[in-house]
Amino acid sequence: MVNWTTIDKHAKEWLKEAGKRIVSSFVTAPEIMTKTNPDDLVTNIDQETEQFFTEKIRETFSSHRILGEEGFGDELTKVSGIIWIIDPIDGTTNFVHQQRNFMISIGIYEDGEPRLGYVYDVVHQDLYYAKSGEGAYWNDVKLSLLKEVPVEKALIGINSTWLISNRLIDPRETLIPLVNDARGTRSYGSAALEFVYVATGRLDAYITMRLSPWDFAGGKIIVEEVGGKVSNLRGEPLNILEKNPIVVAKPGLHEKIIQKYLSKGFS
Ligand code: IPD
Ligand code: CA
Ligand code: CA
Ligand code: CA
Repeated sequence: MVNWTTIDKHAKEWLKEAGKRIVSSFVTAPEIMTKTNPDDLVTNIDQETEQFFTEKIRETFSSHRILGEEGFGDELTKVSGIIWIIDPIDGTTNFVHQQRNFMISIGIYEDGEPRLGYVYDVVHQDLYYAKSGEGAYWNDVKLSLLKEVPVEKALIGINSTWLISNRLIDPRETLIPLVNDARGTRSYGSAALEFVYVATGRLDAYITMRLSPWDFAGGKIIVEEVGGKVSNLRGEPLNILEKNPIVVAKPGLHEKIIQKYLSKGFS
């Protein structure tokens, strides 16, 4: 029998410890490197934080597998067993430029099913978490179930680059009309933050054309625990080991965004 209470206790302890290490790193400038292009940043702190988690998980739960952005985990092709999906710093650009608005994100899945989700704002010491079937929390506050809202009153998280161009859908037929009809848009630069902002009702929806498993694994579990919907642009479930375009929204609004706007972009 898997003891989820023990796993949860360790995950929270390690998040707090990793958070303290990140905050204390602010006194020294991080070593900044680039990955796929000059705007795709990674630092020694991203790498050290992921290594911290992989070491703790391996010494405590040797049968668990790990998928991490910075490559210290395992090569995974199947969802079987217990998998920790980790983004050591989600919002590295914010970490480098602002020293805030970045999160540690962890989603723990068993045979592909959601079990535990964490998004930790280390600067504000705000922990968002959920245990599947038992609700979601912001620190000690239990989050309420999300209520429906019309597009006209919706605040939508979207990065402006998706309104200029993308390979998936024509923004002139889809995202631009949606942005025109909505009350407003916001862009925070951390997918995990935008997921938990939907979970807490600070945003009504979040739309993005491309996220990796570590960007959404933790936030998805939290949003779904409060009745939010998470899918690809066609309303289909996400593949948790692959990149996905994503729509996260309150119930009702999610269907509306797909039917009235995004579906216009598909032939
Ligand atoms: C990025 C952030 C950003 C999103 C990018 C992600 P990273 O994660 O979540 O908001 O738009 O697609 O790659 O690289 O800072 O962990
Ligand atoms: Ca990155
Ligand atoms: Ca990320
Ligand atoms: Ca990252």
